[in-house]
Amino acid sequence: MSKLNITVCMGSSCFARGNQENLAFIEEYIQKNGLNAEIDLEGMRCENNCAKGPNIYINGVEYNEVDIDKLKGILDRECEWINKTQSTP
Ligand code: FES
Repeated sequence: MSKLNITVCMGSSCFARGNQENLAFIEEYIQKNGLNAEIDLEGMRCENNCAKGPNIYINGVEYNEVDIDKLKGILDRECEWINKTQSTP
């Protein structure tokens, strides 16, 4: 199974408008759920899509106006297959 790639826009607009908190939440989510080996987390520069920010990309899919509530739903959904894989004997 391939890894989940999460890319967080670290441009000043996205960062100031929520991605600083979103990044901390993702790091905590990875730690809490023991997903270090399954998730690649990286930052990216501004893609000139600031008006829709904060922006986060997961396996190439773009998510806009991401806040903690939205992020939790996305991570729970995206990580479902990992949890299933881990619980399989
Ligand atoms: S700062 Fe994120 S798209 Fe510009």
